[in-house]
Amino acid sequence: MPCLSKLAATALLGTAASASLLPNIGLEKFIKAENKIALQAVLDNIGPNGAKVPGAGRGLVIASPSKSNPDYFFTWTRDAALTFRTLIDEFLFGNKALEPYINDYIYSQAVLQTVSNPSGTLLPNGGGLGEPKFMADGSRYNGNWGRPQRDGPPLRATALIQYSNYLISKGKKDRVKKEIWPIIANDLAYVGQYWNASGFDLWEEVYGSSFFTTQAQYRSLVEGETLAKSLGIPCPACAQAPQVLCFLQSYWNGKYYTATINTNAARNGVDANTVLGPIALFDPAAPCNSPSLQPCHPRSLSNFKNFVDTFRNSTLYPINRGIPAGRGVALGRYPEDFYFNGNPWYLITLGSAEFLYDVAAAYLKQGSITIDSTSLPFFKEIYPLARVGQFGVLHPAYYVLIAAIRNYADSFVSVSQKYTPANGMMAEQFLKSEPFSPISAANLTWSFASFVSMTHRREGKLPPSWLPRSVSVPSVCSASPVKGTYAPATAAGAPNITTPCVSNILFQVNATTYYGENIYVTGNSPTLGNGNLDTAYPLLSNNYTSERPLWYAVIPVEVTKGQTTLKYKYARQQDCGQDWILEEGSEREIQVPQCVSDGSEDILATVDEAFVGQGGKTGGC
Ligand SMILES: *[C@@H]1O[C@H](CO)[C@@H](O)[C@H](O)[C@H]1NC(C)=O
Ligand SMILES: *[C@@H]1O[C@H](CO)[C@@H](O)[C@H](O)[C@H]1NC(C)=O
Ligand SMILES: *[C@@H]1O[C@H](CO)[C@@H](O)[C@H](O)[C@H]1NC(C)=O
Ligand SMILES: *[C@@H]1O[C@H](CO)[C@@H](O)[C@H](O)[C@H]1NC(C)=O
Ligand SMILES: *[C@@H]1O[C@H](CO)[C@@H](O)[C@H](O)[C@H]1NC(C)=O
Ligand SMILES: *[C@@H]1O[C@H](CO)[C@@H](O)[C@H](O)[C@H]1NC(C)=O
Repeated sequence: MPCLSKLAATALLGTAASASLLPNIGLEKFIKAENKIALQAVLDNIGPNGAKVPGAGRGLVIASPSKSNPDYFFTWTRDAALTFRTLIDEFLFGNKALEPYINDYIYSQAVLQTVSNPSGTLLPNGGGLGEPKFMADGSRYNGNWGRPQRDGPPLRATALIQYSNYLISKGKKDRVKKEIWPIIANDLAYVGQYWNASGFDLWEEVYGSSFFTTQAQYRSLVEGETLAKSLGIPCPACAQAPQVLCFLQSYWNGKYYTATINTNAARNGVDANTVLGPIALFDPAAPCNSPSLQPCHPRSLSNFKNFVDTFRNSTLYPINRGIPAGRGVALGRYPEDFYFNGNPWYLITLGSAEFLYDVAAAYLKQGSITIDSTSLPFFKEIYPLARVGQFGVLHPAYYVLIAAIRNYADSFVSVSQKYTPANGMMAEQFLKSEPFSPISAANLTWSFASFVSMTHRREGKLPPSWLPRSVSVPSVCSASPVKGTYAPATAAGAPNITTPCVSNILFQVNATTYYGENIYVTGNSPTLGNGNLDTAYPLLSNNYTSERPLWYAVIPVEVTKGQTTLKYKYARQQDCGQDWILEEGSEREIQVPQCVSDGSEDILATVDEAFVGQGGKTGGC
């Protein structure tokens, strides 16, 4: 393999180096230098000692040190899990200095699981595990947000399972059983209970079912089952894996994976979601026709080509003008993107390189390449003589194809090199039009982690295998998720929380708002922030229309013993940091219905009212 990579790199060196903002150091040198910078930059964004994130809690990964335009100074469960997957890989490949970080992560996640939040609580039904993000110190985040997001728990389980397997191989089964398994068990229970429920996608925008999420859920249940067996502990949720796999097949539309289904979002479904999913479940030993939809699956290859081709459009992405077929381009999230005007992302351009290194690695491992009519267009782009057939190690096309795939991968790394500033710092995005400079959150942890992960795969450092030898898809898909049981992972440091008593109340209020203004409920319950506006409860606007300006939420209001009335008010959160507007007049009051602590989601009371007082006005920022 080193042979091949050198070959591929030599072929590219000229173009890559001459196009780079970094002075002529060539792709190999760039990768070596940038990998070091990227790894340090990841560690700089992790509490409690990360140089760029003072105030971050122990073991918490901060998405970016950026505190304004945009404010990413939070910890996201998904980003943190993906980051730690890569750090645990790096540890397993020999970087022993990372072990304290891994231990801090374990502690932080045990605690985070118990923090009640607007998605719910850990006890009794796991709802709180779907919360996408928390404050940098690990406390609850109360802003209006796309929640729940159901990819965080499975991705976290995968990261922790990877480290647990290592500990077991070192004879530390007891520690895994006592300390780490309880965290994993909560996350798996959540997957088993909610995989068939809607949630927001990894970009936090589309409510429905997400390919990326379903793939992550499938992986967690399969490897969760293997780990549970080796610990001699039952995993009832894990039995859902075949049904999740069945559901996963339904994203394919004949040409590509539709990124989100069960949604009314007006998009065509071409999305990086479907490239990042396969790299997150890459198993180098899995056959390419595995229904887990590995990077080398013919459908994944067709999907990859369709995704990349979408961004070859120079009207959409002027940055890619003049780049011929078969060469890497700058890639963004999806063509309809308008966040920061919709630009290429480092982690997607690098993730696409990683995808191709994974494909090449799988073919090397398997000693054969099969081209069918679905994957043929992908192969023809990088090797015009490609044709349908099976090519084993003895066939000359075998090595030519593998070299072509790695070459193609390198050309995506070269694109990211071209737009990485000389100090190696990667933001979230870089402009699709002149001057192609970095934009949005500076020093994005996930960008750096994606660089380290790409480098591993490029160097042939592959993740452990996790799929059983053969898996089959049920002939009929069905869904009967299992209700999970949850408990705080106290041995890892979680507080021994108890089940709160809640009354589920449906709040509905007519309140005409401008874009950027949000409506909250504040009141005398911890769930409503106990009168503190900073921790008031956000309402949802997804049913808002000009005819009916409805803000609503079913809120599990925590009630103290003996409490009979709830006092509350609605409040407007203005944009641009303007003051809140609280309703005029005295507080509203309702009788508190009987509270329950059995996880029942029955609505016990409903209010339907109109906002009292003046409307807000945009600050125009
Ligand atoms: C990003 O990192 C660079 C280099 O360390 C630093 O100069 C810059 O201030 C950082 N930006 C943020 C928002 O932390
Ligand atoms: C639930 O699973 C069924 C069977 O796979 C599927 O048809 C349906 O779309 C799924 N719904 C959600 C929201 O996941
Ligand atoms: C290229 O992008 C532009 C701008 O988004 C779009 O209007 C056009 O339909 C795209 N062309 C193709 C062939 O997809
Ligand atoms: C947690 O609290 C429960 C009762 O509320 C108790 O039974 C249990 O032993 C406690 N666990 C730990 C680890 O302290
Ligand atoms: C919001 O809309 C959905 C369907 O669009 C509906 O099922 C739900 O009942 C609505 N909720 C409220 C509180 O109006
Ligand atoms: C809320 O708005 C709808 C539509 O305009 C109206 O029918 C309803 O009566 C309003 N509710 C209240 C409490 O004002």
